[in-house]
Amino acid sequence: MSQSGSYTSRKRPLIAGNWKMNGILVEAQQFVAELGENPAPDHIEVALMPPYTLLHPLSESLRQKGIQLGAQNVYYEPKGAFTGSISPMMLRDAGCHYVILAHSERRDIMGEANQQIGKKLEAAWAAGLEPILCIGEHLEERQDGETNAVLRRQLAVLEDAPEGAPLTVAYEPVWAIGTGLTASPEQVTETHAFIHEELTRLGHDCRVLYGGSVKPDNTAELMSCPGVEGALVGGASLQAASFMQIVQAAADVAAGA
Ligand code: 13P
Repeated sequence: MSQSGSYTSRKRPLIAGNWKMNGILVEAQQFVAELGENPAPDHIEVALMPPYTLLHPLSESLRQKGIQLGAQNVYYEPKGAFTGSISPMMLRDAGCHYVILAHSERRDIMGEANQQIGKKLEAAWAAGLEPILCIGEHLEERQDGETNAVLRRQLAVLEDAPEGAPLTVAYEPVWAIGTGLTASPEQVTETHAFIHEELTRLGHDCRVLYGGSVKPDNTAELMSCPGVEGALVGGASLQAASFMQIVQAAADVAAGA
C-alpha cells in the first residue's frame, strides 16, 4: 500500500451527486421519475446531495429507489440562536446518511478552515452522519509541487477522529472542478495512493472518491485507477440520464466488466 498505484480496493464504491446550489422541487421530482425503477446496482452505492430545501421532499422517494441522501454542509452546534444554520440532527431528521464537508467552494468562497471543519466532523459523527470530507489542491499548488503538502494539511483534521468513525474522503483537485479538465489517470493514481497512505497513518481505512469534471465518458477510466473507490459528481449529476450513465459505468468497472 505504500507504493504508488499498488492500492487495491475491496470497498463498495460510492457514486454521489452533489447538486450544489441547483434544483427546485419540480425539477427534483422530474429527476427522480427519470431514474426508473431500480437505479442502484447491487455492488455500487448511490447517493444524492441536493440543496437543503429538497432533502425532506426527496427523502422517501430516494429511499424507495435504494439511493442514499446527503447534505452539502452542516453547522456544528446542536441547536439555538444560529440564524440560517442547519444542525446535524436536522439532517438526520430529514433522512440524511451523508454530509459533504469542506468542499473547496466552502473553503474558498465561505472561508472555511480546518478549525471549523474539525468541529463539523465531530458534530456530524455525534449525530450519526457519515461525512464526505473533501480535499484538493489549487492549480498553482500542483504546479509548485505542493499537492501532497496541501492534502496532508487538509487531512490533519482527522488526527483526533474517534476510531472507526464512519468516513469517506473525496479528492477533488480544485482546478478540475467545473472546468472540464480532469486529472490524468497517472495523477489520480499517484495522488490517491498518497491519500490512502496518509489515511492509514492517521488510522483510517476509508473510501477515497475522485471528483472534478466526472462525466459519463471518463468514468470508466477514472474508476479503473487504483485507489479510486467512487466519484463525487457535480454538473453531470443534475440530469438523471447522465448521472445514471456514470453509475452504470462505475458498476461495470466494479463488476470487472
Ligand atoms: P463538477 O463535476 O461539476 O466538476 O463538480 C465536482 C464537484 O465539485 C463535486 O463536489
